[in-house]
Amino acid sequence: MRILFVAGEAYPLAKTGGLADVVGALPKAFRGLGDEVRVMLPGYPEAMAKVTEIGRPLPLADAMGYGAARIVPARMPDSHLEVFLVDCPEAYARPGGPYQDADGRDWPDNARRFALLSRAAALLGVAGGLAGWQPDIVHAHDWQTGLVPVYMRQWGGRGAGSVFTIHNLHYQGVFPPATLGEVGVDPALNTIDGLEYWGNVSLLKAGLVFSDFLTTVSPTYAREIQTEGFGYGLDGVVRWRAQTLRGILNGIDPEIWSPETDAMIAQPYSVSDVSGKARCKAALQAEAGLLPDAGAPLLGLLGRLVWQKGVDIVLGALPEIVEMGFQVVIQGAGEPGIEARCREAATIFAGKVSAHIGYDERFAHVIEAGADMFAVPSRFEPCGLTQMYALRYGTLPVVRRTGGL
Ligand code: ADP
Ligand code: GLC
Repeated sequence: MRILFVAGEAYPLAKTGGLADVVGALPKAFRGLGDEVRVMLPGYPEAMAKVTEIGRPLPLADAMGYGAARIVPARMPDSHLEVFLVDCPEAYARPGGPYQDADGRDWPDNARRFALLSRAAALLGVAGGLAGWQPDIVHAHDWQTGLVPVYMRQWGGRGAGSVFTIHNLHYQGVFPPATLGEVGVDPALNTIDGLEYWGNVSLLKAGLVFSDFLTTVSPTYAREIQTEGFGYGLDGVVRWRAQTLRGILNGIDPEIWSPETDAMIAQPYSVSDVSGKARCKAALQAEAGLLPDAGAPLLGLLGRLVWQKGVDIVLGALPEIVEMGFQVVIQGAGEPGIEARCREAATIFAGKVSAHIGYDERFAHVIEAGADMFAVPSRFEPCGLTQMYALRYGTLPVVRRTGGL
């Protein structure tokens, strides 16, 4: 099959969390099965800089109110996956992250930014052979791409089928109703069985309602999101579509996450020779400013510092955890309040607790390899990848029993 992935991020071009890991890795797995997969992403400057362009760009007639926009065919570094970058500097070339500015505020025009991406993908889906390639399936991921199936239906034709994957139902892409006009969606869809959501419109709901098929990233989460406690107001929609929803557990990319070949860790090791793991632990203790104690059990924590991840639960229990003789290393970025509490804990328990605030891909590998145990105390977790990386590195995961955990 020919499959077009479309998402807001994909490793190594842009990453804020596990979505990027999956959108970078899953196409490679499909390719291994004989499918032809291409990935469409916004043309963030870092992404444009990392790829190799391989064909003539295709101008987009309507740039959603921005200046010019074009689809640039290119190839990813390392995996050589083919990608289409939607190059529109006015929408995507900004200092900050894919969804937020440098101060953590959502870009005010996010609906339009991602409608542009979604429409470019839908265009390839319906317009038979545009850009020389007709997908059989357009596979969209999370709220940023929820309008893909809406545009595909609006335009009709005998195009591709659509699949929508829920990586996190909590991020719903909610915008004022006037947005529909701005992004070229028929305002008649602003109804309870369309995009309407408590007086606003939800782009996630658009994906849930209009896609041919739905998946989410673990079988447990597929069940959980049909309940009020995990549905965040969309459980009714999910129940209504339950016949076309499957929970499929994520996998990991062993070319990036394997202690045998990982160039970012102090010493490679494997299941048949784990001696390198002790050196990785010593290196982690040194870099994190922890006491060089080979016998102290070392607990790692790594993730976005948001309510979902439950890091505050571990922070609350730190006095007892330290009392038991543990060392704890935390890496993360997110809500300023949680960041501050992590820093404070590291000051109070200097030498025993270390906080690495910020985003650092290399240090994530250093923790996965160097820790003895890895905590994932998430309040909900659609799948979670860090615990699977921990398993791969012989680092015992200690997790809450929810979702993919
Ligand atoms: P989520 O997608 O909800 O953030 P996952 O466990 O699926 O959770 O994926 C998180 C990914 O982001 C992992 O690859 C993890 O290593 C990475 N990550 C999270 N926070 C950081 C950080 N501060 N620095 C480096 N990598 C991080
Ligand atoms: C989301 C979820 C996480 C999942 C990831 C990749 O960000 O929060 O649990 O592993 O997507 O599917």
